[in-house]
Amino acid sequence: MLILGIETSCDETGIALYDSERGLQAHALYSQIELHAQYGGVVPELASRDHVRKILPLIRQVLENAQVQRHEIEGVAYTAGPGLMGALLVGAAVGRSLAWAWGVPAVGVHHMEGHLLAPMLEAHPPAFPFVALLVSGGHTQLVQVEGVGEYRLLGDTLDDAVGEAFDKAAKMMGLGYPGGPRIAELALQGNPERFTFPRPMVDRPGLDFSFSGLKTFTLNTLQKHILDDQGQDEQTKADVALAFEQAAVDTLAIKCKRALAQTGLRRLVIAGGVSANTRLREKLQAMTAGLGAKVFYPRLEFCTDNGAMIAFAGCQRLLAGQQEDLGFETLPRWALEKLQAV
Ligand code: KG4
Ligand code: ZN
Repeated sequence: MLILGIETSCDETGIALYDSERGLQAHALYSQIELHAQYGGVVPELASRDHVRKILPLIRQVLENAQVQRHEIEGVAYTAGPGLMGALLVGAAVGRSLAWAWGVPAVGVHHMEGHLLAPMLEAHPPAFPFVALLVSGGHTQLVQVEGVGEYRLLGDTLDDAVGEAFDKAAKMMGLGYPGGPRIAELALQGNPERFTFPRPMVDRPGLDFSFSGLKTFTLNTLQKHILDDQGQDEQTKADVALAFEQAAVDTLAIKCKRALAQTGLRRLVIAGGVSANTRLREKLQAMTAGLGAKVFYPRLEFCTDNGAMIAFAGCQRLLAGQQEDLGFETLPRWALEKLQAV
């Protein structure tokens, strides 16, 4: 079954063609990072307008790259939530309309299900069941995954998502948006002996996260050491970036280890934008190896938002006969556990 996937939940327009027999056929991504960078974060209205501008040319480009004619497409999958309402509406309206025009079924996909299943696009996909750590700009969740659509939430953040904490810490240091990759890059110059930041919530039982304390600690450290000299001390910024990254990564790894112990599972999936972080990948690799467990992640370009993961997840649902009627619904907030099992 050949599926067109459309992702427009935030600041990237992602389009892909996935075939259940032959795998990923083509994909393209247009990132709005430059558009939003000057504002230090995503401006929802600008995001919607840019999706409107980019979505159809990008769909044409993907069809052309894959040498696919419209009549060959057998279904359309679009991100229906969670995300920015206006941005979601663009992808959903275009996706639903194309499916109607082409006479094929359409399905709305949960953005985090897309992230969670993204490692299945790789050559050695994880088998079910597994524990998934979903780490993005909006989510920090540990999920027990029994199958497609069978998700049990094990832990969630009580305040900021970890990606959001990276973005805010970067903003404090004047590093620009998105903060995750910039902090990671600056941290490479950091001195690990200089600062040790607290690992939030690890001394308490359970699998929930909290990153607001780490954020405040970062701000206080910066104020104490940098603001005095008008932000000129680049080495201190690098040292803070490293201490922040280490604390965030350690916290995630400790909770992942706990989740594996609690569930008795031996496979861990990490997905979402923050799973692109090299330190996190290395840490989880070492942690799972020590337990005789295995970690799976998507290739780097499919860690952050993309159309391929939506085409893949939508394909699983369409193959199982799920589809929307002629209307469509977009959900800015949407719990993973509400999804129907496949
Ligand atoms: O999944 P994603 O592309 O969009 C959402 O669904 O939110 O994730 C974006 C988030 C941003 O907060 C960004 O700073 C973070 O992922 N991120 C990273 C890295 N690359 C992206 N965080 C840490 N290290 C990275 N290398
Ligand atoms: Zn995402």
